[in-house]
Amino acid sequence: MKKIAVLTSGGDAPGMNAAIRAVVRRGIFKGLDVYGVRHGYAGLMDGDYYQMDLGSVGDIIHRGGTILRSARSELFKTVEGQQQAITSLNDAGIDGLIVIGGDGTFKGASKLTSHGVPTIGIPGTIDNDISGTEYSIGFDTAVNTALDAIDKIRDTAYSHDRICIIEVMGRKAGDLALWAGLCSGAESIIIPEAAFSIEDIINRIQYGQKRGKSHTIIVLAEGVCKADVLKDMINKGLGLEASVMVLGYLQRGGSPSAYDRMMASKMGGKAIDLLIDGIKGVMIGWKNSQLVHLPFEIAEKEKHTIDMADYHLARSLSI
Ligand code: ADP
Ligand code: F6P
Repeated sequence: MKKIAVLTSGGDAPGMNAAIRAVVRRGIFKGLDVYGVRHGYAGLMDGDYYQMDLGSVGDIIHRGGTILRSARSELFKTVEGQQQAITSLNDAGIDGLIVIGGDGTFKGASKLTSHGVPTIGIPGTIDNDISGTEYSIGFDTAVNTALDAIDKIRDTAYSHDRICIIEVMGRKAGDLALWAGLCSGAESIIIPEAAFSIEDIINRIQYGQKRGKSHTIIVLAEGVCKADVLKDMINKGLGLEASVMVLGYLQRGGSPSAYDRMMASKMGGKAIDLLIDGIKGVMIGWKNSQLVHLPFEIAEKEKHTIDMADYHLARSLSI
């Protein structure tokens, strides 16, 4: 292993830059030539690489987004696209690849591994929905960003006696909604992992109103439904107008938290060490407060779960 490349793919996440920095610095420290691939798998197919030196990752540990840029590529999902990427890697003489991204990115990495490219995955997505790891880089920062927004919305909801629905990201997972909802004391948290009924939501609002609570915060995971759909249901059932806030891309940006910088540094360093040890076709994960690595195909079979005890705890605390 002499020459390796690193890319970021899928939705960007705070801490991706800290992970790139760790890969580049640890790689050079261990005597490797490290190349950056621009725009994820699209850049991999197009040979859009550049050599990274120690200075190329200076001043980025605190920055959100990804200096390598990210992209989604339909072509790369095809065998033709994957072959194009392999030809391009071979032409550049690159013999190892580190990808930073989510589930989809790892599916692509698994395909590259099966075609003989030594590949390692680092989990990075604000959704925290990747199988095989309890933590993905970006989640902690995104929770805190959502929390900050919800805290502010609560101030005005209180002042105006409003019902506010806040839609957060997460794809099919409820992690972000559960954490942001529990930590902000939301009156209701609606996540894909738990069935909800509009009667229950309305009962909780009315129960609060009876004890003098005239505002309500509802945190809704995007994987359940659009906030406007919920708003219509509440308006119809309660006869009161609810307000809607979709936090959107706000949640993906911003300076990474200390926790995300730490995880990104640990995982980036580990990815280099694994490649040097000749380990390939694995993703790095965080389990029971330890770094682990497991083959992509084994990780794919694990189902991502959330702690339902936290969900029930939140319900009991926000009555
Ligand atoms: P994330 O990595 O955040 O889950 P996506 O699901 O959009 O984001 O995946 C990122 C990219 O990974 C896709 O645009 C595609 O190029 C690649 N990818 C996703 N699924 C597959 C697949 N089944 N086979 C090959 N490549 C894939
Ligand atoms: O995977 C991260 C994520 O932010 C999801 O929560 C969201 O559904 C999706 O990406 C949106 O991605 P984009 O609009 O960039 O396609």
